[in-house]
Amino acid sequence: MSTYIVEDTRKVTAPRLLEMKQSGQPIAMLTSYDYTTARLVDSAGVDVILVGDSAGNVMAGNATTIPVTLDQMIYHARCVARGTRRALVVCDMPFGTYHASRENGVRNAVRLMQQSGADALKLEGGAEIADTVRGILAAGIPVMGHLGLTPQSVHRFGGYGVRAREDAEAQKLIADAQLLQDIGCFALVLEKIPSWLTAKVCEQLTIPVIGIGAGKADGQVLVVNDLLGTDHSFAPKFVRRYADLQTVVTEAVGSYVADVKSRDFPNQSESY
Ligand code: KIV
Repeated sequence: MSTYIVEDTRKVTAPRLLEMKQSGQPIAMLTSYDYTTARLVDSAGVDVILVGDSAGNVMAGNATTIPVTLDQMIYHARCVARGTRRALVVCDMPFGTYHASRENGVRNAVRLMQQSGADALKLEGGAEIADTVRGILAAGIPVMGHLGLTPQSVHRFGGYGVRAREDAEAQKLIADAQLLQDIGCFALVLEKIPSWLTAKVCEQLTIPVIGIGAGKADGQVLVVNDLLGTDHSFAPKFVRRYADLQTVVTEAVGSYVADVKSRDFPNQSESY
């Protein structure tokens, strides 16, 4: 295991990510949902912290991201922003908060930015949401796009399988990626698509492309719980597990329980 030394300690901004792509520096992005994790993730040198609506899965135990509300995202993002010094904090707009109309989407985006302290927002989708994205950008809010497997559309897709294997869907993804760049998005997440398609989009776009289950890209993102191995029952091929917290935490808590039950804890030096 190696420790990464951060040489540039300035706060990461949306324009800085563009410079990183231009100078060929890979972008490390990771999710966080709370203050304590954000502090650790930020001090370990991550460039972008995503307050993902995957909070609905890993924090709340839901099967999908669909039940996540705007108020819940505001709460998680506020906790993360408090724990972050250097990384750019990007917050997901949750399901249903940017689809009713452009006005409604802009209003929700403004509330999310004002009340959470996030630096930027991420929205799932391409041409269908372009008008709303334009409105949010016009309000001065940096927007990160998200194409490929967009989990908020899981019921339309019928599952979490790899997207854009077929030519028509791949061509639409390429066109959507170009459109999101053209209207002003500062970066793009590509989730669970073939690596040849990611390589093509990375080459075509000047904005950074961050992959998850999408092969090599300008940067990578993972859900922090997956990287830390908090749940052995979730082990998709694209996750690299850097720790085994399920075992570490279960053993630590088990030892604590045993010590309490045997009256070993607390001992004299742990008492007043
Ligand atoms: O919500 C999330 O964690 C995400 C990542 C998987 C990209 O959108």
